[in-house]
Amino acid sequence: MAESTPANWRRTDEFLSDLLVGHDPGLDAALAAQHDAGLPEIEVAPVSGKLLNLLARFSGARRVLEIGTLGGYSTIWLARGVGDGGEVVTIEAEPANAAIARTNIDAAGVGDRVAIRIGRAADVLPTLEGSDPFDLVFIDADKESNTIYLDWAARLGQSGTVVIVDNIGREGEIVDDDTTDPMVIGTRDGLRMLADDPRFDATALQTVGIKGWDGVALALVL
Ligand code: DHB
Ligand code: MG
Repeated sequence: MAESTPANWRRTDEFLSDLLVGHDPGLDAALAAQHDAGLPEIEVAPVSGKLLNLLARFSGARRVLEIGTLGGYSTIWLARGVGDGGEVVTIEAEPANAAIARTNIDAAGVGDRVAIRIGRAADVLPTLEGSDPFDLVFIDADKESNTIYLDWAARLGQSGTVVIVDNIGREGEIVDDDTTDPMVIGTRDGLRMLADDPRFDATALQTVGIKGWDGVALALVL
């Protein structure tokens, strides 16, 4: 049996990606563009992008909310998942990222179904009140605000809405009671909210792969 090392996690992840995810010119171009623009390589792994796409399709999601666009890689996966006539609203705090995302999303051929809202999510989310409920919410932004984002996911969703939270593993740091890292504390507070808040039923999976040791939480709005 191979040793459980980051290099072997990567090899196995690449095997799975090559086998099950393959290549899509729009997604590959988005990754290349955001790499060339110097964005941090913190977009979801291809296997996770495909997971988002499948979750959208499993749940029949037509309206998706994404918090944290970065360069639009996960946005394109979600936009492919909602199909023709579906829509994705994605929120990005950094205008330069949003500009890169707009180009990537348009080049991938899904620009007509993606609205990018520029601003801090805590400011943009209240402006979405009164729109049709979202069927799926993907939270992948500043981890310090995860409880705020989960509250909005429940408010802007409805019974049956799927909620996905990225980066819940954080290299195992979430079980370190002594941590002072605000991202870890925010992540753990979000997990506690998923446990305690009666609006949610949830689980979480750890992941290893090209993005190291991390994880994803999956919740249903009750
Ligand atoms: C970070 C954020 C992410 O969304 C991610 O997937 C990985 C890392 C970060 O801010 O460190
Ligand atoms: Mg992330």
